[in-house]
Amino acid sequence: MIKKCLFPVAGYGTRFLPATKSMPKEMLPIVNKPLIEFGVEEALAAGMDRMAFVTGRGKRAIEDHFDKNYELEDQIQGTAKEQALAPIRELIDKCEFSYTRQKEMAGLGNAILTGETLIGDEAFGVVLADDLCVNDGEGVLAQMAKLYKQFRCSIVAIEEVPAEDTNKYGIICGEEIKAGVYRVTDMVEKPEPEDAPSNLAIIGRYILTPDIFDILRTTPAGKNGEVQITDALLQQAKDGCVMALKFKGNRFDCGSLDGFVAATNHVYGRYQKKTP
Ligand code: G1P
Repeated sequence: MIKKCLFPVAGYGTRFLPATKSMPKEMLPIVNKPLIEFGVEEALAAGMDRMAFVTGRGKRAIEDHFDKNYELEDQIQGTAKEQALAPIRELIDKCEFSYTRQKEMAGLGNAILTGETLIGDEAFGVVLADDLCVNDGEGVLAQMAKLYKQFRCSIVAIEEVPAEDTNKYGIICGEEIKAGVYRVTDMVEKPEPEDAPSNLAIIGRYILTPDIFDILRTTPAGKNGEVQITDALLQQAKDGCVMALKFKGNRFDCGSLDGFVAATNHVYGRYQKKTP
C-alpha cells in the first residue's frame, strides 16, 4: 500500500574518513554488500518499489550502483562470477529509482522536505542506511507498514538504549497501548540523559504521512541549528497521532566504527551458516 521509500543520502560520513573522502558512506560494504543495498532490499520486502534518494555532491556511485554496468557485465557474462550480481540485478528489475539533490546540509528534516518533489501527496517510508537492520523474519519496515495499515498515521521504529546514550538519538515517550506499540506523547532530539523523557530511541526507520511536508516547511531549526524531523513529528503527535513500534530484529549503528564492525561480524556469521 505504501509504494515509495525515501533515502536521505547527502551526509558526508566524516566518522569514516579517509574511506569516505571520495566515496559515499552509504556504499561502505558490510562484507560484500553496500549499506544502501540492504536498505533498498528492506524497503522492497515491505512492498515499496519506488526508491527516492535525496543526494548531494559526490554521491554518483549510488546512482551507478542501481544501474547496469555494461562493460563489467559483458566481461563476466556466462562465468560463475555472474551469480554475484543476481541480487542487485533483481533489485534493479523490480524497483524504480529517482534522485534529487539537497541544496545545503540543513538537517534530516530539511533532507526529507527536499524529497517532497519525489514523494508527492502519499505516505512513504524513510530509511537511514547507517542503521542496518537484519533479522530472519519480517524486516523492520514491513513490521511498520503493517502498523500503518491499522493506524494510518506516522510511525517511528524504536528500541531501548542505555541511559547514557540518549544524546545520540531522538527519544520518545508515550502510552503503551499494546505490547511494543506506543502512542507518542513527547519526543526530544538528542536530550542529555537527565532531560530524556525515557530511554526509547528512534532508529533510522520512519513511515511518514505527507502532511509532514507542510509541518517541516514551518519547523524552525532545532538541535544543532538543524531542522529536525523529530520536532516535526512532535507537532504531528500533538495535532493528531504518531505511533512508535518496538521492532523485532537486530539493528546496528553503522555510522559508528563499533557498530560497523559488529554488523560486519554478524552478517559474516549469517553467510557462514548458509554455506555448507
Ligand atoms: C537521526 C535523527 C534521530 C534518530 C537517528 C537514528 O539522527 O535525527 O532522531 O534517532 O537519526 O539513527 P542522526 O543519527 O542523523 O544524527
